Amino acid sequence: MQKNCTFSVFLCKNNARFMKKIAIFASGSGSNAENIARYFSGSREVEISLILSNRKDAFVHERAKKLGIPSYTFHKNEFDEGDLILETLRQYEIDFIVLAGFLLKVSQPILEAFPNRIINIHPALLPKFGGKGMYGDRVHQAVIDAGEKVSGISIHYVNEHYDEGNIIFQATCEVLPDDTADNVARKVHELEYKHFPKIIEKVVLNI
Ligand code: GRF
Repeated sequence: MQKNCTFSVFLCKNNARFMKKIAIFASGSGSNAENIARYFSGSREVEISLILSNRKDAFVHERAKKLGIPSYTFHKNEFDEGDLILETLRQYEIDFIVLAGFLLKVSQPILEAFPNRIINIHPALLPKFGGKGMYGDRVHQAVIDAGEKVSGISIHYVNEHYDEGNIIFQATCEVLPDDTADNVARKVHELEYKHFPKIIEKVVLNI
């Protein structure tokens, strides 16, 4: 696994019992990762301690650098095998994993190490429009092609099947007859930015 950001991090061991530490996994742009990190910056209870990606060229690394959060790239086989990633998560004392635009299926060793402590956001109203291959604009186009009048977001726990874990929260937006996939994506992103950090906070702090 390769470290992308080069600055050093100050890990405050003394308040480790009080601070819930989150690792975000992202494969692409990472606008949600940045929004979540900004929401918790300055928080005494929740910290985004780490960003991990399966893609070295993912823009999320640039965002991590700007935010002062260490970021790493791993290979798919490291993810499937689990040991190195779990060791890194232990080093950073991670309590919860948040998937924000992360495209790989979470491997068994990681699921087993974080039972009910992995949360994903899906850009549609599950159980519809989920599953393997349903990501990005494909989801929004499928919603339009199906003639849906509403779409939205689903925040859910992660289990061994794509997009099938228990749903924690959903919010909706209108889909208008002349909406394109881009329009729907914009509306969905707005919902994500508004709700995802608050739901993460509730789950992580159990409130
Ligand atoms: C979001 O729409 C999220 O719901 C989906 O992938 C997209 C990621 O966007 N899983 P970004 O990388 O956070 O901008």
